Amino acid sequence: MISAPAKVILFGEHAVVYGQPAIAAPVSSLRARSAIQSRTEGEGLRLIVTSNGQQLAVEIDPEDVNSAFSAAVRLVLRHLKVSVPPSVNITLESDIPVASGLGSGAAITTVLAQAVATAVGQKLDAVDLNQIVFEVEKIYHGTPSGIDNTVIVYEKPVYYVRNHPLELLTIPQPIILIVADTGVSASTKIAVGDVRYLYEREPERIQVILSSIGAVVQQARTAIENGDIEALGPLMVQNHAMLRTLTVSSPELEALVDAAMNAGALGAKLSGGGRGGNMIALVTPETAEIVQQALREAGATRALMTTIG
Ligand code: MEV
Repeated sequence: MISAPAKVILFGEHAVVYGQPAIAAPVSSLRARSAIQSRTEGEGLRLIVTSNGQQLAVEIDPEDVNSAFSAAVRLVLRHLKVSVPPSVNITLESDIPVASGLGSGAAITTVLAQAVATAVGQKLDAVDLNQIVFEVEKIYHGTPSGIDNTVIVYEKPVYYVRNHPLELLTIPQPIILIVADTGVSASTKIAVGDVRYLYEREPERIQVILSSIGAVVQQARTAIENGDIEALGPLMVQNHAMLRTLTVSSPELEALVDAAMNAGALGAKLSGGGRGGNMIALVTPETAEIVQQALREAGATRALMTTIG
């Protein structure tokens, strides 16, 4: 069994696409998984995808340019210099809700790519796997920053700057988060495209917001590395307000952020592409359950507690 985690962006989404830093961490309790079985009838590579409790069989043509699954298979085979796809079934399943800001696409591609390599008797190292998943992310997102694939492939908290060497983050004091789902699925590609549109229309105004997000991320990094968890709360609130100005919040996200803050969270913000999907609330062991409950009462379809560091 091969598996990969979900991810949350703690600080810096969207601005990271424009070269600002961002901080993200894996959510190890939500995972995508793949497994390889030999094929008893038929030939070629077949995916057995479990989605909403139903199994769907997909025959893979590695040359199909319209499928992200095919792209992943094609890139792995090309990288490993294998010309014929292995004749196997690869099962894919995931606990990670799709289109919710938790990196479901990157996690599924990660486990598929590693399964294809394993099926031809090889293993992809993290650098190559990360590059392949990034290439496939471009099909999902258009202009991804690369943060999702990086945090998922390495399964470590990262301080990420596009086109810069990977920096893992040391977290001396655990960060307790409630990750709550609005239940509204939202396309990261569309949200990223809309921010691009804003940026092209008003580059100076938008650049000020993006740089301010970058400054918040720097402060958050210092606070995290100093174990100053309380300082993170107001920084999350500031980051959320900046994302709202970039038009990527939504009424459902606002309701959950307000509910978390009213219930005593230290901070709260949307996480990922926004417009729906998930938000995160920073809590203490004392407030965790109260905030979790308040989020459910405010309409969250799922409110999961996770500890980072
Ligand atoms: C998506 O998880 C994060 C965004 O910043 C897009 C990206 O970095 O590719 C919205």
